[in-house]
Amino acid sequence: MSEARNIYREADALDNCDVEAAYARWAPIYDLTFTALLRPGRRAAAAAASKADGPILDVGVGTGLELPMFDRDTQIYGVDLSEPMLRRAAHRVARERLTNVHGLAKMDATRMAFADSSFACVVAPYVLTVAPEPEAMLDELARVVRRGGEIVLVNHVSRKDDPLAVLETFLDRHVAPKLGWRPQFPWSTIGDWIDQRDDMTLVERRLLAPFGLFTLVRIQRLQVEPATETAPEPAELEYA
Ligand SMILES: C[S@@+](CC[C@H](N)C(=O)[O-])C[C@H]1O[C@@H](n2cnc3c(N)ncnc32)[C@H](O)[C@@H]1O
Repeated sequence: MSEARNIYREADALDNCDVEAAYARWAPIYDLTFTALLRPGRRAAAAAASKADGPILDVGVGTGLELPMFDRDTQIYGVDLSEPMLRRAAHRVARERLTNVHGLAKMDATRMAFADSSFACVVAPYVLTVAPEPEAMLDELARVVRRGGEIVLVNHVSRKDDPLAVLETFLDRHVAPKLGWRPQFPWSTIGDWIDQRDDMTLVERRLLAPFGLFTLVRIQRLQVEPATETAPEPAELEYA
């Protein structure tokens, strides 16, 4: 019997080209498909960011659906990998006169052109599951957020007891690159990253509507950087 050949790419093969291609396809129908379903998470992210005392970075801003939800007195910057999505965000900014949006730029969120500690808050609604390298993205978000500032994520986080788990596994194996995101996303991706960083702490993890399908995660960069291990001062040499 001939060996069955797996004609599909593994989910791990999801890369930035897949993401750009997928969102070029999604862009014309994105708002129609995802405005209502993902609204509670966007609102929750914007509400969490309203505590920020300084500029906010919206990572994976997409078509800009969350932009009108931020406080109009706060400076907002948005980045995304997809030009077709960004073009729609730019139209929204003009149409809704969002004068607090100071810049929209095409950038890979794992290598952004912002200086360290530029933002009081970084929000990334529905983006981490899309990223081929979520840990690298988290590292980069941590680099650009100020001490005391927060990273606010909204994502679907897989649960073992979830009736959707079987479907997620199937979609993950077979269509992740086409979809442009990973249906299966374990909490450990975020949890282990936090555990490995002694400058980050989990502030909140909360299930959101609809049906607890998405999770709001707030991570704070500690106000005071943990003391780095420095070599002890050499003790005075004692001579006999
Ligand atoms: C599901 S959409 C979310 C858009 C928006 N935040 C919302 O709530 O509707 C994910 C977005 O992340 C963007 N994205 C994925 N990987 C990225 C990366 N490495 N750098 C920047 N943006 C990225 C995609 O292009 C897409 O616009």
